[in-house]
Amino acid sequence: MMDKRSNLNKSYNITTFGCQMNEHDSETLAGMLEELGYIENANRREADVAIINTCSVRENADKRFFGTLGQLKKVKEERPETVVAVCGCMMQQQHIIDTLKAKYPWVDLVFGTHNIHQFPSLLNNVLNERNKVVDVWDNGGDIIEGLPAKRMYPFKAYVNIMYGCNNFCTYCIVPYTRGRERSRHPGEIVNEVKALAASGVKEITLLGQNVNSYGKGSNFTQDFADLIYMLNDIDGIERIRFMTSHPKDLSNKLIHAFQKCDKLCNSIHLPVQSGSTEILTRMNRKYSKEDYLQLIEKLRDVIPDIAITTDIIVGFPGESDEDFNETMDLVEKVRFDSAFTFLYSIRKGTPAEKYKDQVPESIKHQRFDRLVDRLNEISQEINKSYEGNIVLVLAEGSSKTNTKMISGRTVTGKLVNFKGPAELTGKLVPIRITEGKTFSLNGDIEK
Ligand code: SAH
Ligand code: SF4
Ligand code: F3S
Repeated sequence: MMDKRSNLNKSYNITTFGCQMNEHDSETLAGMLEELGYIENANRREADVAIINTCSVRENADKRFFGTLGQLKKVKEERPETVVAVCGCMMQQQHIIDTLKAKYPWVDLVFGTHNIHQFPSLLNNVLNERNKVVDVWDNGGDIIEGLPAKRMYPFKAYVNIMYGCNNFCTYCIVPYTRGRERSRHPGEIVNEVKALAASGVKEITLLGQNVNSYGKGSNFTQDFADLIYMLNDIDGIERIRFMTSHPKDLSNKLIHAFQKCDKLCNSIHLPVQSGSTEILTRMNRKYSKEDYLQLIEKLRDVIPDIAITTDIIVGFPGESDEDFNETMDLVEKVRFDSAFTFLYSIRKGTPAEKYKDQVPESIKHQRFDRLVDRLNEISQEINKSYEGNIVLVLAEGSSKTNTKMISGRTVTGKLVNFKGPAELTGKLVPIRITEGKTFSLNGDIEK
């Protein structure tokens, strides 16, 4: 194995694209590198080990990845001893590996989402043998416990509860890049969260592509709601969040957990994708517009002040004006606190790639703009209704541009900016809201 002392003063940089899952994988990679004696370097071009952790979903993901990689070619020319490593979801796609081999032969190490735990030994191979290493596994095997992590914040943390996805929405690449659903044992999760609480973490976000199917097909009996109850009992943890939950699997038991578990935050990210039942069927989402609306009603009946956010795809193949209007109508009925909107784009290897009736780009853009404008108006209206209220904010730190300003989040997940000393970071602070804007709230510390 590598000797920690031999890495004295060596540094690493990780560029992360994609979702929280990838962010957390990067925390694991950073944790492993620090155990090997590496220190973080904010400058990608100066690091001894430069890693790019890729995403296959987010807009322009390919372009941004190959752009970033292109920058590193010069670094490799100037300092050939630099290790350039690439990993993450894109590496699980064969055509990407082929492109890397053909056009980016100077990349030293390629690994995938299923063998992150092997990173130290893969790096060792590159360093000792000066060999190029490509090692991508097709499927996730057993869950590997006990990997280190260098968390981004000392007071809040991501906790993986499951990996993979079995849903195969017809537009989505994730089931192919992250493999089948595997749930961590609740005992392992509880132990991790207890350790986090002991180290000062107040807020945890439970991660999975579809947390509502937690435990399915496992050798234990607890479901997602049971897990929340277990975590709610851990001293020191003050806030529990989770993402993402699929509407088709959201149970009454979980809805009631919001009432019973004081630490479970009043917010839910519930991706709807479309308001048209026909499009939802073609997306293989397994719920109708009406099912979704009923679910929202149930949630609001039990938790009246819950914040609801969503993901919407515009221009899925075959989306007609009527279909799109159904989405606009659903937005009007639900009034989301905020939404991530995506222009549909083809993912190689997914069923929708073959759908004939692709929507022209210009129509997609028109619909997208109309949708975003309305979503933003609604977000602002909702945020305005916070004005005058006193809310508890978990302060996350001072803003980069103005060190006198601190930002943090409400229990409903709203971003709040207020004036205060940096020492408040990591504390729960009562704030009186003075202004509700589209994407954030302003406020003053309530004395
Ligand atoms: N597991 C999560 C989502 C993961 S991907 C869930 O099911 O909610 C995040 C979002 O990317 C999806 O909700 C979807 O809105 C969007 N997305 C995925 N594939 C896409 C594609 N091919 N084109 C456009 N948006 C896509
Ligand atoms: Fe993709 Fe659907 Fe799985 Fe989410 S639930 S990761 S959208 S296949
Ligand atoms: Fe992207 Fe992979 Fe997440 S494709 S959205 S990083 S699971």
